[in-house]
Amino acid sequence: MKTLRDEIDMEKLPVHIAIIMDGNGRWAKKRFLPRKFGHKAGADTLENITKAADKLGVKHLTVYAFSTENWKRTEEEVKGIMDLLRSYLDRYIAKADKENIKIDIIGEKSRLDADIQEKIKKIEILSADKPGLNLHIALNYGGRDDILRGIQKIAKKVEAGELKADDITEEMISESLDTGFYPDPELVIRTSGEERISNFLLWQIAYSEFVFNKKLWPDYTEEDLYEDICYYQNRDRRFGGR
Ligand code: FPP
Repeated sequence: MKTLRDEIDMEKLPVHIAIIMDGNGRWAKKRFLPRKFGHKAGADTLENITKAADKLGVKHLTVYAFSTENWKRTEEEVKGIMDLLRSYLDRYIAKADKENIKIDIIGEKSRLDADIQEKIKKIEILSADKPGLNLHIALNYGGRDDILRGIQKIAKKVEAGELKADDITEEMISESLDTGFYPDPELVIRTSGEERISNFLLWQIAYSEFVFNKKLWPDYTEEDLYEDICYYQNRDRRFGGR
């Protein structure tokens, strides 16, 4: 039987997919459960989707796990998400030798608890040589904050006399960002039916295609990923040309 997986044109597989994992709270609410259960289910979905994207041959997956604005949530909810992250990182560290994917964190890490920063350093070292998918987890990430920090790096070079303001290029700005070492996403998926970008990769999405999937993130499956990729592949990308 032909499945959606077979419909994917491997020649046009996106190199980089970015996902706004939205809807954990609503998923929990529908079940009369506290929000943290939604985030737990969301973390399980993240593991499934990471495996599916890796199997498919996607090279980069960037996921929005915690934004610079998410600190405004209750202390309990923030702690719940941070604890999930702790156990996610611990699980990877414990079975690092069997893992295939490379993990790094984008975002402003200094505001994260010291133990989380330590686990991040560990995981980035342990996974550095893995051959599979590059999973970039956006934590305390904001697109504007990314651009601000990038511009500050460039401004320091100008201040030091190493660079002239007129010589600043788009490539230099791209490279100054947290994502500077990998390509921009061809495809951005947001779940839960919301249709906004919420300060995710602002500079990097200049030419991205968007797919807004109505499923809540904990309900999102491997098949949904295949479907969203097929939907993206059936669009005509012109980059402003004809
Ligand atoms: C958005 O749903 C989701 C988040 C703000 C958190 C995303 C976090 C995870 C999927 C788990 C992270 C875990 C690891 C291991 C990286 P929402 O709470 O805004 O949902 P709602 O809009 O329905 O309230």
